[in-house]
Formats: sequence, structure tokens, C-alpha cells
Amino acid sequence: MREGTSCGGFWLRGVDLNHRPLGYEPNELPDCSTPQFDDSNRRLGRQTVMGPFASATHRTASYFTSLGEFPSIDIRRLRASHLFICDLHKTLAPQTSNAASNPLLPTAQFSEEGFMPKKEVQTPNINAQPRIHQRAAEIQRYGTVSHALPLELDEPVRLEMTEQLNQLLADTMTLRDLYKKSHWQVAGPTFYQLHLLFDKHYGEQAELVDTIAERIQLLGGISLAMAADIAETTRIERPPRGREEVPVQISRLLDAHQLIIGLCRELAERATKVGDAGTNDVVVSDVLRTNELQVWFISEHLVEMPLVRAEEPAMRKVG
Ligand SMILES: [Fe+2]
Repeated sequence: MREGTSCGGFWLRGVDLNHRPLGYEPNELPDCSTPQFDDSNRRLGRQTVMGPFASATHRTASYFTSLGEFPSIDIRRLRASHLFICDLHKTLAPQTSNAASNPLLPTAQFSEEGFMPKKEVQTPNINAQPRIHQRAAEIQRYGTVSHALPLELDEPVRLEMTEQLNQLLADTMTLRDLYKKSHWQVAGPTFYQLHLLFDKHYGEQAELVDTIAERIQLLGGISLAMAADIAETTRIERPPRGREEVPVQISRLLDAHQLIIGLCRELAERATKVGDAGTNDVVVSDVLRTNELQVWFISEHLVEMPLVRAEEPAMRKVG
């Protein structure tokens, strides 16, 4: 048995139409007639033929096909075709005994007995390698809406609503992150309680972010998403990177809530006026009510109350 060479080029699938790989003894063939056929067997059976052998192989295959026998051809007939190609190989390259040194030689692994299964093959257009580092133009510019959506809402209405919702989104994302900052950096005797409460509110704000963003998208617009864009858009004052005491943390949170609640009331009213009942519902039922409830929970922590001993009634000033 003589080993051949291999390189890229014309590919001939080394399987018959019943998916039986070439170059195997009949008793070595896997059961290929079931849908669970293992593709690795098929790939091992592929062979490469180049140059003058491509046409020879094609003629051989055409011959069997013209007889109508190719789908059920037995392994001996296939071997006959292989030997034909091997003879051609010897005729064309009699000068060399080293097949690897002749660039005109075919790329398949030939032998007197027939094709040998090729260990490694590359299949064009089928590759498990992820295609990374890709870039392309945007498919929709920010600040636009899809022209035609079956929502019974005119394009100008959707443009206005998505613009206002993006402002609400930027502020809500900032408030969400302010809650996480407060959750991490809170200090003092109420640490445990506030640590948990801030994180609960963070989670609720995160849900609102998703609700608002998806409302924008379903109206045909584009939601803001990235931190740099949020920082440029939000109206909430930027806090310092360092830690602040609890009353300041809570005051910042309440100021942010106030901005959002004010926008919610304006936006809900405007949405009703232009006929966008869905936006009105999201803004009132989800955003406004959640913010109102959170305001109540955190503002109670700024009420001056004695911790251990009640003050004498005479000493207490009410109001
Ligand atoms: Fe945490």
C-alpha cells in the first residue's frame, strides 16, 4: 500500500448515495441507512481529487450513474473505479517515485487497493470558528422610529413618545445605579436594614428599566442602553465616587425620585392627549406607582425619632 499526498482542490465525496464511506471493507461499514448516521463517518470517507484526475473520476462516476447503479453500487465496483484512477496516476507521473514532490499529482491518498480514508479534511462554508471582530453600519439610527407599524399610532406620536420615554429611561437607569451605590456604601447603625432595602429598590428599578426600554422598542424607536449615553442624557445630579452619610444618600435618592415622578405625570398626561394609552398605562401603573412607594419607604428613614427613650411631652415640638 502506497501513501499519497494531500492538498486543497476539487472534492469528491467518498460516500455513495446510501452514505456508505468509500475505502472500507463491506463488513467494516457502519449502518448508514438510519437517520442517526454519524456525520464523522461521512467526513472520514471524503477524498480529494485534483487536476487531470477530476475529469477521470467524473467520467467514472458518470459511467456508473448512466447505468443507474450508482445509488446501490457495491464496493468492488467502486474499487474498480479507484484502480482506474490509480493507473492514470501512474501514467501521468512515471518520472517520480515520490508523489509528494510532484505538484501535478492529485491530492487524494491513493493506493493500489483504493482510496484511504483521509484523517483531516476542511469543509468549505462549514466551520465552527466564530467570526469575531465584526462591524457593520447601523440598521436604524437613534432618534428614529420604524415608519409603518400596525399599532394605529402615527409616526409623529411614536417619535414624541419614544423621545420622552428615553429621558425617563435614562433617569431610571441612573436611579437604579444610585440604589446599588447606596446598597454597597451605606454605613452606620441602620446598615443592615438599609443595605437590604436599597437592594430591593434596585431590583424594582431594574425591572422598570426593562419595561420602559421595551416600550420604546415596540413603538418602533431605539432605547438608550450604554452608560456613557445615559450619563449624557440623565438630569439626575452626579454623586461623588466616595461614600456619603445615610441622610445624604437618602436625600439624593429622593431628589432622583422627584425628577422621575414629575416626568411621569407630564408624560402620562401627554400620552393620553395624543392617544397613546399604552404608554400612559406603563408610565402610571408601573413607573409612577413604584416610585411613589419607594419614596415612602426611604423617606421614613429621614424622620427624626428617639431610638430608646421617648421624649417628655413638654419637651416635644410638633410640626
Ligand atoms: Fe449585594
